[in-house]
Parts: sequence; structure tokens; C-alpha cells
Amino acid sequence: MLIIGHRGSAGTSPENTLKSFEEAVLSGADALELDVQVCKTGEPVVIHDMRVDRTTNGHGLVSGMSLSQLRFLDAGDKEKIPTLGEVLDLVDNRIDIHIELKSAGTGEKTAELLNRYVQKGKYTFDDFVISSFNHHELLNFRKFNKQCRLAALMAHTPLDYADVIPADKLDLWALNLKIDNTTSEFVRSAHEKGYKFLVFTVNELEDGRYLKDMGVDGVFTNFPARFVKSL
Ligand code: G3P
Ligand code: CA
Repeated sequence: MLIIGHRGSAGTSPENTLKSFEEAVLSGADALELDVQVCKTGEPVVIHDMRVDRTTNGHGLVSGMSLSQLRFLDAGDKEKIPTLGEVLDLVDNRIDIHIELKSAGTGEKTAELLNRYVQKGKYTFDDFVISSFNHHELLNFRKFNKQCRLAALMAHTPLDYADVIPADKLDLWALNLKIDNTTSEFVRSAHEKGYKFLVFTVNELEDGRYLKDMGVDGVFTNFPARFVKSL
């Protein structure tokens, strides 16, 4: 079962910061996860919320602030909000990166950046998984990048499992479901259709063991070091 550091190592460092991502890399996890928004000047930046209020000492919408305004903020432990490019430079292909597209427009900007990094020879497209709750944004990403693996994020268990697996519209690699609604039936159904099944956010080791026994392919956790050591 893959161990994926959620927002880096968000249980031990400020989420979505370079410090958190370095911790995730050093934890021995298989991959790290991060969230992408686009700021006013068009750069893809790594922050979970639409607003900077919860995770920094600033106020306002990410989309209403320039990169230089965002850089001025403290994202915790004197860390800055990183750009997606800075995270790719830091990780330097040491582990895989799961990129969650948050707001509209992130698909195109993220694809452009990944295409540039792959052209430079720093990464291959296999090193990334692109995910989103907004499945339209995954389709947008696909217009600009045909190679990266895609994962559809879901919060709920559907009534008919077949309904949420839009193989004709989206060539998905995985379904990613919230832990509260994960069932062995859904995991089995996804596997029968050839999809990986990943679960978020799993912070108790006991839950991790339960999901592993269920046959889940990967978990996102705020405590990657603890999970790598014990699972
Ligand atoms: O990618 C899994 C997980 O990160 C989705 O939820 O709210 O933590 O971004 P959230
Ligand atoms: Ca996320």
C-alpha cells in the first residue's frame, strides 16, 4: 500500500510548505500530496484554501493577490507559500508528487509547468498524479497534457458505483475516496474496472491497517514517517 504524505507532512510541519515537503521526502513515503491554486499574476501556487486566512498571517483571496503579495505572508514557522515550481525543484524527483487541482484554471497552468519540467529532463510524466474533486478541471488538464496519471477525488460513496467511473470521458488511473465513506464493495468494484483505490485522510495507524487489509492501494496521511515505520 502506497504511503502518501498529505500536504507534505502536515501533522508535523506547516501544511503545503517546503519544510513540510522535505519532511515527507525524508520520511521514506512513496509520494507526497499538495494543493494548487492560481494567484492573480497567473503563477500556480501551493496552498489548500481559496483564501490565505487559515494557513497564513494574511487575509484575502489567493486569486486576488499577486505572487509578490503572497510571498510576503508567513505560512507557519516563517515558511512562505511556495510556487509549484519551487516544490518540484526541492523534491528533485526523489518521490512521486500527487497534485490536487483546486480552483478553475489550475489544470492549464499546472500542465504547462509540468510539460516544461519534463522537457528539461528533470522529471517524467510518470512521476505525477493529477487529482481533483472538480472532474471538469481534470478534463481541462488533459487538453494540455495527455500523459500524466489522473485520479478523481470523491467525498461520498455513490449509489451506483458504475456511475462515477466515467471511463468514456476521462482516462482515470485511480479513484480517491474519503475514509469515512470507503467500503470494501467500492474498493472491489473499482479494482474490477482496473482502477487503483486511494483513501484520504488517514491519520490513525489502526485505520491504515484496516484499509490495507481491505486491499486499498494507497493512503494519504498527515504523518508519513509514522506510517512508513509501522505499516
Ligand atoms: O487528495 C486527497 C485530499 O487531499 C483531498 O482533500 O481537503 O485535504 O485537499 P483535501
Ligand atoms: Ca488535497
